[in-house]
Amino acid sequence: MSSHSFFSVSLVFAFFLASCQAPAPAATALPAETTQPPAATAPPATATEMPASALPASADPSRTPTWVWVEPTQPATPTPLPAFQPRAQSANTLRAQADIRGILIGAAVNNGLVHEADYAEVLAREFNLITTENAMKFGIVHPEPGRYDFQAADEIVNFAHGHDIQVRGHTLVWQKQMPEWLQYGDWTPEQVREILHRHIETVVGRYRGKVEIWDVVNEAMTGNGDVQRNFWYKQLGPEYIDLAFQWAHEADPDALLFINDYAAEGINKKSDGLYELVEDMLARGLPVHGVGMQFHLDSGGAQNLDSVTRNMQRLADLGLQIHITELDVALNDDPTPEDLQEQADTYQKILQTCLALPQCTAFITWGFTDKYSWIPETKDGYGSALLFDATYQPKPAYFALLETLQTK
Ligand code: G3I
Repeated sequence: MSSHSFFSVSLVFAFFLASCQAPAPAATALPAETTQPPAATAPPATATEMPASALPASADPSRTPTWVWVEPTQPATPTPLPAFQPRAQSANTLRAQADIRGILIGAAVNNGLVHEADYAEVLAREFNLITTENAMKFGIVHPEPGRYDFQAADEIVNFAHGHDIQVRGHTLVWQKQMPEWLQYGDWTPEQVREILHRHIETVVGRYRGKVEIWDVVNEAMTGNGDVQRNFWYKQLGPEYIDLAFQWAHEADPDALLFINDYAAEGINKKSDGLYELVEDMLARGLPVHGVGMQFHLDSGGAQNLDSVTRNMQRLADLGLQIHITELDVALNDDPTPEDLQEQADTYQKILQTCLALPQCTAFITWGFTDKYSWIPETKDGYGSALLFDATYQPKPAYFALLETLQTK
């Protein structure tokens, strides 16, 4: 290495260390990009279950980084969101009834769909909350080092605000839907820490005051109730969870911050571990405000709702809110009327369970029309999991929820 390039690299690294110790607000004094990102290594066969031997050498905390990737400054003034016209609301809808009860009723949404007239009409009529199904995941908003793409997320936020709908940002930290440049790059732990900090600061900061709720960390626990040894854990240790919440809170002190998981609805090893995690975070003064319970159910999948209630209650006793975040009830293809009624009963019982506890403040389904659902794409032979059929006709599950919301 020439003395000139050695000097340049040293200078950048010194700057990087300084910025780690005293993080600057919203990308202020960072120099423009000065080095090249690392070449991505070949992805391992199973990305989320990387054996220790497959870890990049950079995962060794004792290794001194030889260069640093500095993320370029983000534009000071974000692109303004175009305006939408609000629409009139009818009284006999899930949304109107949820508004009367003071509960959030939501659906997960992908951005392109808000341009479909029927989809947009039902969405704005029936829901007062939207969760971004994919548009705010790391790989979508941050597709290259230092380059953010907010088009999909902006479309949803814009639609929501034009229709007076709140937004639940999903999700800042997850081991899935990560960009390859990050997941397979030869990063040091210090660099990963800096990348995550900048990512959270940039994404939450952009939507400060516009996205009221965030799933900060998604699916962090194993079935045994331990923190998963995922990419973030391997790079940063379990503290990545604390850091993510701290950084999200710094970027928007008014946002409600959730940890979200599946198969931890009732009391079991996983929900015990999650309970201990949030209890400990609260004891240490960390800004965690709620726990998201996903509720992805199959037809006939029994839920012990007493156990769910006890789990919700112990979390509420810690001062946390509970959101039902991703409910769907997958049926076999070509469901019978009995299947649809059983599905309706399941939706209804879960809503009743939520309504019985004041701290259960949101009831969200993972999509709302069977025309667009992750289930048929992922589970062969299953579908029809949502409240409206593929032609936007309400199903028995819809009427069961409406009736439940109307019941005093
Ligand atoms: O964006 C690409 C597109 O460019 C490409 O042409 C297409 C071809 O398959 O794939 C598109 O990406 C897909 C992406 O959804 C956006 O549609 C991915 O393949 C697909 O895997 C991805 O699935 C999402 C899944 O999370 C990823 O794990 C589902 O839509 C989404 O519903 C699902 O949501 C998760 C929650 O985030 C967390 N909890 C579980 C839930 C269900 O799995």
